[in-house]
Amino acid sequence: MQKTLAIIKPDGVARKLIGEVVKRIEKSGLQISALKMLRMTKTQAEGFYAVHRDKPFFNSLTDFMSSGPAVVMVLRGENAISRWREMMGATNYKEAAEGTIRRDFATDIEKNVVHGSDAPETAAFEISYFFNAFEQVNA
Ligand code: RTP
Ligand code: MG
Repeated sequence: MQKTLAIIKPDGVARKLIGEVVKRIEKSGLQISALKMLRMTKTQAEGFYAVHRDKPFFNSLTDFMSSGPAVVMVLRGENAISRWREMMGATNYKEAAEGTIRRDFATDIEKNVVHGSDAPETAAFEISYFFNAFEQVNA
């Protein structure tokens, strides 16, 4: 069993895509272990995306991620990290495969609706950034 952090980014919430994304997750067989809505502060977004600190898009990305409410979730299942990333599609929605969330709904390389952890170590960091052990259901 593996866990990953998923986020419905502020563009996805604003465009009323929460239900659509959650429906796809439920259909996929991944279990939702935790779920909540929050609005990140700029500082929280900077901490979350600290690995991208030196990228040219860092300031814009953290402005965007703190621009409105987001839904954060812990997803659990076999190979949850790669399964969720496959459902999301490529970062650039123009390169994302047919039927992926980003291909179907993203409007911009930044406003790409969803986030997913990219490795077990980043998943552990990202999950603990938003949830403590009591907030996660493992059965
Ligand atoms: P994420 O972390 O959000 O799941 O996305 P990802 O792994 O597919 O992409 P990553 O390289 O980690 O980039 C994080 C987010 O930054 C924005 N981005 N903007 N303007 C740009 O060139 C650019 N590149 C990336 C996107 O919102 C991307 O998801
Ligand atoms: Mg990433």
